[in-house]
Amino acid sequence: MTQIQLHNKTFEVFIPETEISAIVHSIANQINNSGVKNPLFIAVMNGAFLFAADVMRKITIPNAEISFIKLCSYSGTETTGEVNELIGISGNISGRNIIILEDIIDTGITLDKIMSLLKKENVADIRVATLLFKPDAYQKQINVDYIGKSIANNFVVGYGLDYDKIGRNLPHIYKLKD
Ligand code: IMP
Ligand code: MG
Repeated sequence: MTQIQLHNKTFEVFIPETEISAIVHSIANQINNSGVKNPLFIAVMNGAFLFAADVMRKITIPNAEISFIKLCSYSGTETTGEVNELIGISGNISGRNIIILEDIIDTGITLDKIMSLLKKENVADIRVATLLFKPDAYQKQINVDYIGKSIANNFVVGYGLDYDKIGRNLPHIYKLKD
C-alpha cells in the first residue's frame, strides 16, 4: 500500500522500511566505530521508540545503557511561565557519555531544552543522533552528530512519528500527499 488515510489527510510512502533499516545500520555503525565508552543512550519519547529499539540492538559497545525520557512542561502556579523538566532520568548521570536518540529534529526547540537540562547534570559528553532532520526548519546552533536523513519541510508520519496520536505503528515513513 503506497497511500494511506490518517484522520482527514492522505499520506504517501516517502521512506520505505528497507531504507529506514539501512539508515539505522549506518548510524549504529558510526556510533560503534566512534570509540565512545560506556554510553548512556537517551531516547526521547514517544516518537523515538522504534528508532531507539532498532539502533540499540545493533550497538556492540560494552556496557551500553539506555533510558527513556519525556519532556514535560507545566504552568507553575507562582512562576511566570512554562517550566520544563525531564521525566525519566533518575539517579546520577554526572560524568556519563550521553547519546540522545531523536526521531526527528525540526525547529530544534525540543533538542535545545533537552540539552540545557542535561548540561545541568554535569555529564561528560552529549552527542545527538536523529533519524530525520529538517535543515530548513532548524533554528538552533547545536551540532547534530549523526543524521539519518535530511528532509524538506514536509510533515511525515510512521515508524514512531505520529499525526495527532496515530500512525506510529506504520513500518514505512509517509509524507503528506500534496
Ligand atoms: P522541534 O522541537 O521543532 O525540533 O520538534 C521536534 C518534535 O516535533 C519531534 O520530536 C516530533 O515529535 C515533532 N515533529 C516535528 N516534525 C514532525 C513531523 O514531520 N511529523 C511528526 N512529528 C514531528
Ligand atoms: Mg520527538
